[in-house]
Amino acid sequence: MADGTSIESSLNETRVFQPSRDFAGRARVGSLEAYEALYARSMDDPDGFWTEVASELEWFEPWSRVMEGDAPWVKWFVGAKTNLSYNCLDRHLTTWRKNRAALIWEGEPGDVRVFTYQMLHREVCRFANVLTTLGLEAGDRATIYLGMIPELPIAMLACARIGVTHNVVFGGFSADALRDRINDSRSRVVITADGGRRRGAVVPLKKNADEAMTDTPSVEHVIVVRRTGEDVSMRSGRDLWLHELYRDASDRCEAAALDAEHPSFMLYTSGTTGKPKGVVHSTGGYMVGAYATARWVFDLQDEDTYWCAADCGWVTGHTYIVYGPLLNGTTCMMYEGAPNHPGPDRLWSIIEKYRVTILYTAPTAIRSFIKWGDQWPEKHDLSSLRLLGTVGEPINPEAWMWYHTRIGGGRCPIVDTWWQTETGSIMISPLPGATPTKPGSGTRPLPGIVPDIVDKDGRSLPDNQGGFLVVRRPWPSMMRTIYGDPERYERQYWNEIPGVYFTGDGARRDEDGYYWIMGRIDDVINVSGHRIGTMEVESALVSHANVAEAAAVGVEHDVKGQAVVAFVTPKGASAPGPELTDALRDHVAKMIGAFAKPEQIRFTDALPKTRSGKIMRRLLRDLASGRETVGDTTTLEDYSVLAALRESEEG
Ligand code: PRX
Repeated sequence: MADGTSIESSLNETRVFQPSRDFAGRARVGSLEAYEALYARSMDDPDGFWTEVASELEWFEPWSRVMEGDAPWVKWFVGAKTNLSYNCLDRHLTTWRKNRAALIWEGEPGDVRVFTYQMLHREVCRFANVLTTLGLEAGDRATIYLGMIPELPIAMLACARIGVTHNVVFGGFSADALRDRINDSRSRVVITADGGRRRGAVVPLKKNADEAMTDTPSVEHVIVVRRTGEDVSMRSGRDLWLHELYRDASDRCEAAALDAEHPSFMLYTSGTTGKPKGVVHSTGGYMVGAYATARWVFDLQDEDTYWCAADCGWVTGHTYIVYGPLLNGTTCMMYEGAPNHPGPDRLWSIIEKYRVTILYTAPTAIRSFIKWGDQWPEKHDLSSLRLLGTVGEPINPEAWMWYHTRIGGGRCPIVDTWWQTETGSIMISPLPGATPTKPGSGTRPLPGIVPDIVDKDGRSLPDNQGGFLVVRRPWPSMMRTIYGDPERYERQYWNEIPGVYFTGDGARRDEDGYYWIMGRIDDVINVSGHRIGTMEVESALVSHANVAEAAAVGVEHDVKGQAVVAFVTPKGASAPGPELTDALRDHVAKMIGAFAKPEQIRFTDALPKTRSGKIMRRLLRDLASGRETVGDTTTLEDYSVLAALRESEEG
């Protein structure tokens, strides 16, 4: 296990919160018995179960089989044809929802744009026609590098409409990281903006994109959204303003009939090697997963105003800002900027202003709110809220209790949702009207999902014993491959323990069947709910001229959950010190993005290694978090190295 600390604190947690009778009485799944019946049905008759769920959506051609093949190479809804954009938009236009707000967007400066389903449909059609005019076809890839403006979901839905696989790159990634992702995905088009608004400043998106595109041979065109009005350079022939392209674009565009297995999107995520992997998702299976989980977990009702305060640059934004809620015809709130701009109560003011009913955010955000003080939520009327959610990292029971009392007024259930970029949709979570919750636990699996806790040989472990979290059966929204590297997909996810999906998380299951996530067991650090591979940070550091060797580890952090600490051996005559520290932190920001900057850099003459030359990360982790090293150190190449590292900490 990465470290035993989160499990220890959770082990003491004995509080149980029952869904209120009021909530349960109106919920889609309103009792534990109802959840258990749903789950049992999904196990006893998976084909019948998924057929029923999928039949609530529209398909242009039916499937011949619900699932086919052996893991990992499975297909769902075999032979069926459908379209995600059609199901998110067109499906609602023949109902009362056509004039329901699909998207209520607030910019950081306070500007507001509202799109009904009908209006959003028109925008998406226009954007899809723009892509078609530029020669894009089903099967091509487009990279989207935007801030949180309406054009981001519009571009995603436009791609989905014509079968272009979108690759959204979080606007906080640097030019170098963007370049790698454009090249690896071989994108023909890049969609960006003149700038993004964040914490009162402008994020130079187009400038970063220009820097990225000094060496991106696949890119033919760049579509630029005007957001900030900044002066940006436009390369003639390649760069085109969206508002100019829109002039000739019709607002009608038929949705392509795509195979259920057509790759709807790819999204890069960190793993144990230096190179991020492009996780590829399907169309039909992904759609069913996003639709059903959003409905079950968020209990979406007609009068809800739902807000997932994530960024579309991460999977949470894909499935629970865009696809899941729109498939359900929900009204979605979307906000452009920082949660503390202009003041630390921005989120609460938005909830009050739009009478938001459901809020879904990350534990790291909750811990920041706690730090900023109770006076900020107290200034606002949060009585519209009826349900709260968290995602991205284990939530410490203290943060859970604060969220429950200060934000939820003690009346809102909390859904702690466990899932991953790879799983496509929520896997383990309470159903708010059905599942009693325990602070810090994601509780029980959703229908169709079979998690287990196993040892390294794949044997199931008894209750309350920590082990590897795996998933025993394929599920509709599971990733289909790693783009361009099917062998790595098979090896990393399905061969680690043969025949089951390996999550990379450590966890335990308690006597009530509740899952408690302990954190990553691989070399992935979860900083503020964002996955960063230690190898990525190390590759960035050693690419700096003054670095000979580097090791990055994760340590506990009050707000971020985990933070990166790097141990660095400088090269030649370069002097370790604050100047080099700043230079290296900036270098990591340049290579990856500011969110990956090491919290601390420690200089050392040598790194502790085993005789075979492997860096002893466990020792470094213990050292970085101030714990005494108690483990076996007999394989240390040189004991003096460890002593020197300790001194560098004290010095
Ligand atoms: O370690 C788990 C943690 O986040 C990882 C997945 O990261 P990513 O693919 O970036 O997706 C984040 C949003 C879905 C997992 O392997 N994680 C996610 N949700 C939880 C969690 N850990 C504990 N509790 C959660 N609710």
